Amino acid sequence: MEIDPWASKGIKNYDEICEKFGLEKIDHTTLPEPTHLHRRGIIFAHRDLDSILSARKAGKPFGVLSGLMPSGQMHLGHKMVIDQARWFQDLGGDVTIAVADLEAHATRGLSLEKCRKYAIEEYISNYAGMGLNPDKTSIYFQSERAIVQKMGFTLGTKTNLSEMEAIYGFSGKTSLAHVQSPLVQAGDIVHPQLEEYGGLRPIVVPVGMDQDPHIRLTRGMVSKTNWFNVNKNKLGNLTIGLSIQDNNQDIMGMKNDGGVDKTQRKIVIDRAISAINKAGYTQINSNPKHGTIDIKDATAENYSEIQYELLSLERQLGGMGLMQPSSTYHQFAVGMTGGKMSSSMPETTIFLNDSMKTIEKKIKSSFSGGQPTVEEHRKKGGNPDIDVAYQYLRYFFEENDNELEKIREEYVSGKLLTGEIKSICVEKAESWMKEHHELKEQNQHLIKGFLS
Ligand code: TRP
Repeated sequence: MEIDPWASKGIKNYDEICEKFGLEKIDHTTLPEPTHLHRRGIIFAHRDLDSILSARKAGKPFGVLSGLMPSGQMHLGHKMVIDQARWFQDLGGDVTIAVADLEAHATRGLSLEKCRKYAIEEYISNYAGMGLNPDKTSIYFQSERAIVQKMGFTLGTKTNLSEMEAIYGFSGKTSLAHVQSPLVQAGDIVHPQLEEYGGLRPIVVPVGMDQDPHIRLTRGMVSKTNWFNVNKNKLGNLTIGLSIQDNNQDIMGMKNDGGVDKTQRKIVIDRAISAINKAGYTQINSNPKHGTIDIKDATAENYSEIQYELLSLERQLGGMGLMQPSSTYHQFAVGMTGGKMSSSMPETTIFLNDSMKTIEKKIKSSFSGGQPTVEEHRKKGGNPDIDVAYQYLRYFFEENDNELEKIREEYVSGKLLTGEIKSICVEKAESWMKEHHELKEQNQHLIKGFLS
């Protein structure tokens, strides 16, 4: 049941994956201004989304980091992360987008020049039509931002081949491109927290489910860099534990012979206590020898505030002070032929620069959930769950929930025929595309702003 982010076979049972990897479900009724993707359960799971939502509530900064593979034409499936980034941006987040040119170069064999061309002509020029604010959006190339590569190396010290085998199912034949790319991607994900890219703040990574292995790897590596571990204890309160590492032994009061330097240990514990006080908690019991601090007036709910202060302290002491990234997950729309959507099979998707004629043809010949004959269809009705026209209305072209529900009911009851639901889809797709092309044309001047 491994997920292969480079050759995802499509995901059959989302619930099973959530269960297995500890993703939490999103309850869209708790979200501010949920989009149609949230309301319809398409963006359905998350890790630590609460850090983002509480930062927003408190008026504190938060960021969004996403990435694109510049290896071909942009299609509808690629649009979903941009819709999510835009939603977070509307809520107050800043947006950073990585062009994964190193990844595309290494895993798809494309030259960096070609990647650049695809990135600009296919992706970024379409983003211009998607409402991202250029003042709060920064797009960069992995190959040109040395710090993400450096962060990849730094974080790489916190994992090993066995872990990568366990996460990705690698074997002896696996190309090292598949070891390098996730490390660079981890660099992408954490670098917005560095001082010169906005500083310590929660960062959310909106992705398709196939990218979760990278998120898991990154979260694991990041937590291993932390100098102060915040854990829930048996009493339901929080306990801080010092994490002694090669690069912090002196500061943590660890002597070369393995003994504790009591004076130095007291200094670091006292500073941690001040940080905890700063977060507003005062009922503290510390055990300097063990390097632990119990906070009796804090529970799991207070985790983020306390962690934030301890990460700031870690930075003052010379550590990186990185937060684990948050993430949200969307489900994949079915391919137009009923199988997987894939850029390498143009008949399975709609590219954003397909002509209206091509779009019409693709929708008209798409996989249908209708019955073979009109008589049968009138009697039994269609199945919207597998019907491409219905699903594309649901994912992409019909934002009005009432309209969508009406279409669904009529299709299920047999009132709406296969040809008819396809016509509705063509019509809505055309008006969506027309508007997109207009906005795209109008906004080409924004591209410069995205890249600076
Ligand atoms: N690996 C991603 C893909 O295949 C692209 C990517 C690179 C990315 N860096 C990222 C996605 C950071 C999210 C966050 O599409």
